[in-house]
Amino acid sequence: MSSQNSSAMPAITGPVLITGGAGYIGSHTTRLLRQLKVPTVVLDNLSAGHQRFVQGPFEKADLGDCAALDRIFSTHKPKAVVHFAAKTYVGESVTEPSKYYLENVHFTWNLLEAMRAHGCRDIVFSSSCATYGNPQRIPIDEAHPQLPISPYGRTKLHMEHMLEDFSRAYGLRFAALRYFNAAGASQSGELGEIHAPETHLIPLVLFAALGLRQKISVFGNDYDTPDGTCIRDYVHVEDLARAHVQALGKLQDGIARLACNLGTGTGFSVLEVIDACQRVSGRPVHVEIAPRREGDPPRLISGGSAALDLLGWAPQRARLDDIVGDAWRFHLAEAQSAKKSS
Ligand SMILES: NC(=O)c1ccc[n+]([C@@H]2O[C@H](COP(=O)([O-])OP(=O)(O)OC[C@H]3O[C@@H](n4cnc5c(N)ncnc54)[C@H](O)[C@@H]3O)[C@@H](O)[C@H]2O)c1
Repeated sequence: MSSQNSSAMPAITGPVLITGGAGYIGSHTTRLLRQLKVPTVVLDNLSAGHQRFVQGPFEKADLGDCAALDRIFSTHKPKAVVHFAAKTYVGESVTEPSKYYLENVHFTWNLLEAMRAHGCRDIVFSSSCATYGNPQRIPIDEAHPQLPISPYGRTKLHMEHMLEDFSRAYGLRFAALRYFNAAGASQSGELGEIHAPETHLIPLVLFAALGLRQKISVFGNDYDTPDGTCIRDYVHVEDLARAHVQALGKLQDGIARLACNLGTGTGFSVLEVIDACQRVSGRPVHVEIAPRREGDPPRLISGGSAALDLLGWAPQRARLDDIVGDAWRFHLAEAQSAKKSS
């Protein structure tokens, strides 16, 4: 277990059902739970996840399949759920909102009904800073109005509201964790970020460094920021995993409802990220300046103290070069093994 994971972690009663446990953040969280000897079961349809990232018992199933949910809850009798599975592309949510309302909102309802039917009452949920929409102030604290500007963000907010209503009516206990930009990879090198298509900045720049793409496009360099490019808050995926375990601990201690931001409180610009990728990889990246994209706020930086106050969580691996360095080692190894097998 890496040193960052060995700090005092709560004792969790399992099994814990992890939806989306074959995906990026879900696989890191499953790994941490298993390192802590908590029994787990991963539920994933592998639509975006990876079989080789799955650890421990696995149920290949879709959250739209209520009979499968019933069987999985009957078989594994989970004591808690960590719910990562979702459609995750903001742009696609604009052109195909129906898919997002079905898979994010309706399928979450399926999951909550299965929990209710089987007497499972604790759930940690992947929410997003996208629920805040255009920031009215920076940093964005938890009291910031939630006015999402995309269907993706709106589905995440609907899910938060559903959890709140189920909690008040049926005694569900939930933690809604509003991540900023998940980034990095496991320090051990075995897990990392593979999305298809990839839309996240750090892997895209690293692909350019690896020669897997020709260039990286910077969408706008005339924003009101020190170097003119957009600033985002990158939070290490292993720090995110730890927050889920801490949140599970709080729910099992009896806390009924909590919502908090998960970010570092520090922002890095697109150009700073590109610089870090070049520095860490030692390879040049061809950069092209492109027009601004609609709906990209200049700054998204996490604020508020709920994660610290309610979970006792603070990021431990927040240096940009550490985050990029972990991602680089993962993608370099992936590229090398792809080359070997081709
Ligand atoms: N990555 C980020 O920066 C970020 C930021 C904010 C919020 N989030 C949220 O965190 C969660 C995890 O994100 P990620 O980056 O790990 O995504 P991911 O795509 O890597 O993982 C999602 C997993 O869910 C599975 N899945 C999707 N639909 C399913 C269904 N209907 N039934 C069963 N399995 C299904 C996929 O196969 C995949 O393994 C998502 O809910 C996402 O919206 C992510």
